[in-house]
Amino acid sequence: MCGIIGYIGTEEASPILCQGLKNLEYRGYDSVGMATVSGGLEIRKGVGKIDDLRCRLNFEEIPGHIGIGHTRWATHGTVSFENAHPHADCTKKIAIIHNGIIENSDRLREALLKRGHEFAGDTDSEVIAHLIEDRLNGFPGQRGAGDGEPGTGSFDNGFFETACLDAFRLLRGSYAILAIKEGEDKIVGIRKDSPLVLGLADHGTFFASDVSPFLEWTKKVVYLQNYDFVVADGKGVKFYNLLQGEVSRPVDTVEWSMEEASRGKFEHFMLKEISEQADTIQRALQQDGDVIERIVDEVKKGFGVFFVGCGSSYHACLTGTYLLSKVAGVHVNAVLASEFENYEHFLTEDTLVFAVSQSGETADVLDAVKAARRKKSKIIGITNVMGSSLSREGDELMMMNAGPEICVLSTKTYTSQAMLMALMAYALCDKHEECVQKAKDLYMDVYNLTSKSMRVRLKDLAKELVHKEHIYMIGRGLQYTTALEAALKIKEVSYIHTEAFAGGELKHGPLALVEKGTPVFVFVSRDNEDRIVANAQEVKARGGYVIGVSDWNHRVFDRWIKVPECGDLNPIIQAIPMQILAYELAVQRGLDPDKPRNLAKSVTVL
Ligand code: G6P
Repeated sequence: MCGIIGYIGTEEASPILCQGLKNLEYRGYDSVGMATVSGGLEIRKGVGKIDDLRCRLNFEEIPGHIGIGHTRWATHGTVSFENAHPHADCTKKIAIIHNGIIENSDRLREALLKRGHEFAGDTDSEVIAHLIEDRLNGFPGQRGAGDGEPGTGSFDNGFFETACLDAFRLLRGSYAILAIKEGEDKIVGIRKDSPLVLGLADHGTFFASDVSPFLEWTKKVVYLQNYDFVVADGKGVKFYNLLQGEVSRPVDTVEWSMEEASRGKFEHFMLKEISEQADTIQRALQQDGDVIERIVDEVKKGFGVFFVGCGSSYHACLTGTYLLSKVAGVHVNAVLASEFENYEHFLTEDTLVFAVSQSGETADVLDAVKAARRKKSKIIGITNVMGSSLSREGDELMMMNAGPEICVLSTKTYTSQAMLMALMAYALCDKHEECVQKAKDLYMDVYNLTSKSMRVRLKDLAKELVHKEHIYMIGRGLQYTTALEAALKIKEVSYIHTEAFAGGELKHGPLALVEKGTPVFVFVSRDNEDRIVANAQEVKARGGYVIGVSDWNHRVFDRWIKVPECGDLNPIIQAIPMQILAYELAVQRGLDPDKPRNLAKSVTVL
């Protein structure tokens, strides 16, 4: 789950790569590096974030019109200089960067060691540089091991790219790779199960994990497909597919703007993205009526429906199960994508699998999609990123239309997903228009909740909570799923241990955790107020500090966060102040809300 970028053209590569890496930092930020070719090959890399290393290593001064850059989220090998990308071969003439996991790297490394190769670090990626070196030295390699077998034909356009092609054929796993070599005016790339897109500008060609690093220069993109092998030189780009031979790929236009992908006047992307929700929630409603109708038909006649996602997307799935049950009386199963294999045996040709993923690249979700494909089940993709793997995998597609989300935490995309769940629930009982109206009525409420005055109030509450070790949250029904999402937001960004429980479960264990002053958030809606208020009383009786999230101030509350009552749309409304609180807690604890430790936005490993 790293970010990769490459540039070849008439401009100096290093300033472009630096800027691009900054935009890709959300994908990983424990080390960063760059390599350029300007006659010779130069590699600079180190542990830290791009802003720290930019000056320390004079990144922008590396000469050359051809370059590659990488920002890392460690999987194989600790965070160290040696494990930072780019990796070189023994002769230090070849440099590669990689995002993904090479599953057969141990075996490949062993064979390479036997032939005298020397490795600098422990990453799975480093074998790639040595494999290319091996091929250049004329070593044929062992066939039949990699995903790229059997290949059709060969790429006879030059020695370096043939060596790369042969080396890539030996790899098993997931990979987006870029390779450059001293004396070669080209960048060679390949992708399989890890994202790689091309940007085509007048002055050159970009390669990147997503479009954000090159939006400033071009909106013309080519979304590469699995096993696409690409060579870009000064004259243009050639496409080849490991399984299909020579191919051509269409050029698309990205709709996202540079402005959307930049922080503007906001201190952090997280705050910017929270503030956009009055609009993004409305944009989620912009769906093709025919698609909705077809999906509704499929759900009605489907034999088993699964909503599958990870993290916040999973919470949106769970919210969806409650909404479809409550509004439309339809039963669906929400399953964590990483646990989906346990449900695979239920899949048939009549089963429907909704794969929900903001990025559209989460490996666990794509793995579930593969399982559904194997069983010939229908797949409906819900994503925010056009061109992502998920956007191309589904039989039907619903886009969230939320614009780029850069902060590692999902905020606006969570509320967009919840909105889509409500839309489906209402459409299932022919009340699509009613839902659209309810959502329109929400506009001012969301606008007010994201206003400065709300932020000031939550800043105050954050001051009270900032040194707490534990925070608990309870809710029932749709308020339970909201509590889960709120707890995830606070723990991932502030590192305060925060857990959510169903209100009714409190007495079955979690109540033991409550002592004098323990903060417990209580999410209330008008349709279950008596029971949840009774649970709040149980907390209060043990000395807990009760913080209510509701449209009225009940006497059991020690603190009250006022939110309007919005019935089925409460999960959207009640999540917003919790996002702001999470943000304030992170800032007051001196943390970077956009890049929590150990996390990455796009998790492209299983
Ligand atoms: C990562 C992020 C989470 C996100 C999850 C699912 O773990 O840190 O914030 O909710 O991935 O991401 P997706 O792109 O599939 O919605």
